[in-house]
Amino acid sequence: MSEKLAAEGGPRARTTPFPTVGDASGRDLGEEELALLTEVIRSGCLSRHGGTMVPAFEAEFGARYGVRHCLAVTSGTAALHTAVGALGLNPGDEIITTTVTDMGTVIAILMQNCLPIFCDVDRRTMNLNPALLPSLITERTRAIIAVHLFGQPCDLDAVMAVAREHGLVVIEDCAQAHGAEWGGRLVGTIGDLGCFSLQQSKQITTGDGGAVITNNDELGEAARLFHDKYYDRSGANRGVLRLGANYRMTELQGAVALAQTRKLDRILARRRSTGELLTERLREIEGTVPPWLHEKARHSYWIYPFQIAEEVLGCPVVEFTAAIQAEGLPWGTGYAGGIPICLYPALREHRAYGDSAFPWEPPYGRNVEYREEDYPETVWAQRNTLVMNWNEGLTETDVQDMARGMAKVAAHYRARGPAPAPAI
Ligand SMILES: Cc1ncc(COP(=O)(O)O)c(C=O)c1O
Repeated sequence: MSEKLAAEGGPRARTTPFPTVGDASGRDLGEEELALLTEVIRSGCLSRHGGTMVPAFEAEFGARYGVRHCLAVTSGTAALHTAVGALGLNPGDEIITTTVTDMGTVIAILMQNCLPIFCDVDRRTMNLNPALLPSLITERTRAIIAVHLFGQPCDLDAVMAVAREHGLVVIEDCAQAHGAEWGGRLVGTIGDLGCFSLQQSKQITTGDGGAVITNNDELGEAARLFHDKYYDRSGANRGVLRLGANYRMTELQGAVALAQTRKLDRILARRRSTGELLTERLREIEGTVPPWLHEKARHSYWIYPFQIAEEVLGCPVVEFTAAIQAEGLPWGTGYAGGIPICLYPALREHRAYGDSAFPWEPPYGRNVEYREEDYPETVWAQRNTLVMNWNEGLTETDVQDMARGMAKVAAHYRARGPAPAPAI
């Protein structure tokens, strides 16, 4: 006999909340950040121009990644916009990215008046499927924004091969993937530019913040100019060379970013040990499918995703999700709205600038239609992937509670057999 589900009035597998990235319970913030913040306040200089924390953060973050250029910015969206801005593209140029990402990836493309073109995903990882890239390339394609979703690298060997063959720039969107590795190399260092987010939920955080890294001197210089209003500060007279933005990180963010960077190794170690433990436990539970990991990928667990085998459990994923939620396990299904991102109304209906359809209209761009039927794997994966924000506050006991709750729910459905057909 299986245990009675909490959803049916039985005891919950977990009665206390888990640590969360939304507050101190799941974050590694403390004295180190406070000490550097105090230094900033005492210095009286809160701006990166004249300050010391932002340059120190750039130096240490850049050194971690072994890159020549690291630029601190105000968000992951700003990092991506700066990276796209550094490319000097023309309105209507096309940039390919994935159907499963945060809107920040797409904002970066549209803010430079370029067209986002969306690539369907591999249903196992929800990362873009590089086999589809060649079919999306046109004479206007200039770049690929390769997103490493949930902390797992996308297939960078395949992405880089397509990009090099077609002369495209690769921007790695590492917003969710601090410290993730592909073939032993840190993500962000394999493409032409790497972009990071320091938003509240990320592996390291400043509330909001971001960074751009590159080994390309020209792109590094263009990014620095772009994020600082494109002011040429090299001479006596400050000239503006072209259109840029103000994405300068403040010293207050810089202080926290520096302290967080110094903690990244221990944060990743905690996330990985609990993430890997849950994977071990899920392997033992018939009917649950732990995250599929490419042999070259090393995960950094921003989100812990898993799937279920409906045919083994005989219950739809929505029912399983509701049942584990009732047990006190905070997993939901799908990411960022649970649809291909290009089906957000603003994108599907081409609403970016006023009443116009710019940049999706001639003479600059073209009328690209975003249709659900073009992204079948995304639709499947969004419906069938369960996700929970992972964090460094989670303990082995927390993971054992999760596994116990999932084992209980899975056993219940296996014992019940296929759900009875609804009465007509
Ligand atoms: C994949 C991805 N790209 C871009 C962003 C944008 O970053 P931010 O929220 O810091 O602007 C995020 C943030 O969630 C993200 O997850």
